Amino acid sequence: MGGRGDDVVAVTGASGRLGTRLAVRLAAEGALQRLIVRDPARAPRLRDGSPLPDSAIAVVGGYGDREGMRRALAGTRTLFLVSAHEGKGRVAEHRSVVDAAVAAGVRRVVYTSFVAAAPESTFTFARDHWHTEQLIRQSGLRWTFLRDNLYHHTLTTFVGEDGVIRGPAGRGRVASVSHDDVADVATAVLLDERSRAHDGRAYALTGPEALTLAEVAAVLAGLTGRAIRFEDQSVEEAYASRRAADVPPEVLEGWVTSYTAIAAGELEHVSDDVARLVGRPARSLADWLDDYPDQWAHLRR
Ligand SMILES: NC(=O)c1ccc[n+]([C@@H]2O[C@H](COP(=O)([O-])OP(=O)(O)OC[C@H]3O[C@@H](n4cnc5c(N)ncnc54)[C@H](OP(=O)(O)O)[C@@H]3O)[C@@H](O)[C@H]2O)c1
Repeated sequence: MGGRGDDVVAVTGASGRLGTRLAVRLAAEGALQRLIVRDPARAPRLRDGSPLPDSAIAVVGGYGDREGMRRALAGTRTLFLVSAHEGKGRVAEHRSVVDAAVAAGVRRVVYTSFVAAAPESTFTFARDHWHTEQLIRQSGLRWTFLRDNLYHHTLTTFVGEDGVIRGPAGRGRVASVSHDDVADVATAVLLDERSRAHDGRAYALTGPEALTLAEVAAVLAGLTGRAIRFEDQSVEEAYASRRAADVPPEVLEGWVTSYTAIAAGELEHVSDDVARLVGRPARSLADWLDDYPDQWAHLRR
């Protein structure tokens, strides 16, 4: 019996950044968990490398394998669905998991969506989230959407080898959020099962401020001591400079439109949902850089 009753919470994407953080938090709260991973060797562990307690059991399941996922979810009532890696089949994979959840008798799903989720959102990957939200709404499951902004970590991946952030973001702003804040909100939402306070709610999870990419570069430059800067590009320049990367066209479009979405103001909204739900301010980019120096050590070069 877990510390929070006998509801078993299934966590997909448990080998990833967000899923691991969530699994560790739920374990600390004594929750019973089914951690769904593609590779059991990559099941989450505590930060010191030791295994999670027996209340957290790892099982194998891929999003595209509906029957395997149904078996993995059997006996669970609540599902935390981490969105799949970006690609053409992403919405179909999400549909497969949601169908499996319904077939397995799951009652409630908490899904990691995106702040700018809309059918015609500028950031093309955000459209997948809107379509997934629709299919969850239609599934009959109780739902909560955590609409995350870009992660602070993602902004560090925008920095090129030469220390320049290049992209068509102009003076647009981005209210990036930390994985820890999303995991804290997810923990609060998942463990508040009985009140049903989160049913049918979509939360905008952002950091406490919205920065231009020039300001992001300045924060990174200040910490690394390196001349990191932002260079605005035209959309044509953005595609041309990324064409050498051998990725499918929809991935290239996703990369470029992550910048044009910033330029369009679609990622600038600062929400107080993190603070309201976890009772403390959201962590800023500077806080996150302070918390995880190993995550951006390569930028010091
Ligand atoms: N807001 C942002 O800035 C941002 C940026 C990047 C991605 N995202 C989205 O947010 C999600 C969570 O972020 P994160 O940082 O935790 O990502 P992450 O560290 O890459 O973890 C993603 C997790 O999802 C699992 N997964 C992905 N596709 C899957 C599939 N088809 N079947 C089964 N498992 C699958 C991965 O499993 P494996 O370990 O087996 O691959 C991994 O456990 C990402 O998956 C992506 O959809 C958001």
